[in-house]
Amino acid sequence: MGHLLSPSLLAADFSRLNKEIAMVNRSEADWLHLDIMDGVFVPNISFGFPVLKYVKQLSEKPLDTHLMISYPDRYLERFRDAGANILTVHYEACPHLNRTVDEIRRLGMKAGVSINPHTSLTVLEWVLPYIDMVLIMTVNPGYGGQEFISNSYDRIRALKKMITESGNDVMIQVDGGVDESNARKLIESGVDVLVAGTSVFESDDPEETIRKLKNLG
Ligand code: DX5
Ligand code: ZN
Repeated sequence: MGHLLSPSLLAADFSRLNKEIAMVNRSEADWLHLDIMDGVFVPNISFGFPVLKYVKQLSEKPLDTHLMISYPDRYLERFRDAGANILTVHYEACPHLNRTVDEIRRLGMKAGVSINPHTSLTVLEWVLPYIDMVLIMTVNPGYGGQEFISNSYDRIRALKKMITESGNDVMIQVDGGVDESNARKLIESGVDVLVAGTSVFESDDPEETIRKLKNLG
């Protein structure tokens, strides 16, 4: 199977959110990526449940929800009820990660675990059997439009090897600074799901950019 593409709504024009979501619906995108930031785990605040519920009404794509919040355990059920299909938490925000990912799956969602650019891959070793996806941050989380961190390729290759050797079926997602210049190398390095915000929504023709990011030739 080819790779998946998850446009990040953070970079959309929120004054015309319905049109932006309609564009994603029409496009070849697989998922819709939603960034939830609490101003504590990351130095920025994005949007919360009211926006998520509105997006759920309009989106025909599964909601790929990336929680950049401290202690997400308090809100897992509310994210499920608001429409999240894939729920990704940060390793750095979860003191009881095994319990957290079990609960996400029990609630009927796919469970993802994200790690910041400085976090060692080894922390994932014992949680791989219990999750569906690892999200490798390729920028420091908190803002769209940042520069891709170049040692991410080595991290992705090493993670791919770790997952293959473990025998678990876990997807690799990358998020931050993804565009047409690095997408192909990311897929070749082992990525299954590309997240792209600025490169899609700030392009002249977002639907066409999505098509290009899906069909890397
Ligand atoms: C960053 C977010 C990303 C962000 C990516 O903390 O997790 O999803 O929207 O934006 P770009 O693609 O602009 O780097
Ligand atoms: Zn994200």
